[in-house]
Order: sequence, then C-alpha cells, then structure tokens
Amino acid sequence: MEKTLAIIKPDAVKAKNSGKIIDRIEQEGFEILGMKKIHLTKEQAEKFYAIHKERPFFESLVEFMTSGHVIVMALQKDNAIKAWRDLMGATDPNEAKENTLRKLYGSNKGENATHGSDALETAATEVKFFFPELA
Ligand code: RTP
Ligand code: MG
Repeated sequence: MEKTLAIIKPDAVKAKNSGKIIDRIEQEGFEILGMKKIHLTKEQAEKFYAIHKERPFFESLVEFMTSGHVIVMALQKDNAIKAWRDLMGATDPNEAKENTLRKLYGSNKGENATHGSDALETAATEVKFFFPELA
C-alpha cells in the first residue's frame, strides 16, 4: 500500500483544527503510521521545500512554516498520495472544493492548513525526511 507525507501547517494547529483534521483522516480510511508535533527550524523548512527555493513565495513560505508547531504524519492507504491531495483540495482554499480540508480550514494560498506529497518519489523522500524508521 502507498505511503504519503501529510503536514498540518501552523495556521491549522494554532486555530485548534488539528483534531478535526486527524479525525477526518481516520474517517477517510487512512492509517496513521507515524505522527509527531514539532516546531520546524528554518533549516528544516528550507530543506523540505527546497524545490520552491527560486519561487517568489519561498521566503514567506519558510517564515510561515516555522511560525508555530506543525503536526507531521506518515499516512498509508491505497493510492494514498492522490487520496490525500484530493482530501486537502486545491492549493488556494478559494478554489478548493466544498468539504475539502483547505476549503474548511485554509485562509489563503499561503496559509492553507495542510501539506501533501505530490508524487511517488517525493512521498518517499518526504516520509524519510521525518520518519526515517518507516522508509
Ligand atoms: P504543499 O506542497 O504545501 O502540499 O502545497 P501544494 O503542493 O498544493 O502547492 P505548492 O505549489 O507545492 O506550494 C507549496 C506551498 O507554498 C505556498 N504557496 N504560496 N503565495 C503563493 O502564491 C503561494 N504559492 C504556494 C503554499 O503554502 C503552498 O501550499
Ligand atoms: Mg507541493
């Protein structure tokens, strides 16, 4: 079965929406293989989002991701990568479908409540980044 890396971002943790998000993850049939609440360092956030380092939003993304605690989770399900991205909804909460996590809990394109791996290779790298014991 496929694994993916999910993050509940600082906006959603601060707003006390993490319990609702974790409940939804379980209701939608994901198995939580690993979960921890951490405060990312600048170095960790820069490394994790290194693919975006030339993008204009990189600095604000790193600042946001280090602004408070996050909850990182390794999730497992059939087609977990797509299933989790479908459950999150579009990057911009204003474009996300009804009842998706970003529609429910996101504020804007930057502060959008959750992260999800986008492909098999990135999922493997990202799971290993936080949960080397599961790789
Ligand atoms: P993620 O990686 O966090 O799951 O989000 P995603 O695949 O839907 O979107 P991606 O293009 O990978 O962007 C990563 C994160 O950067 C922030 N962002 N801000 N202000 C902007 O235009 C902008 N664009 C992206 C968001 O937090 C986005 O989730
Ligand atoms: Mg992405």
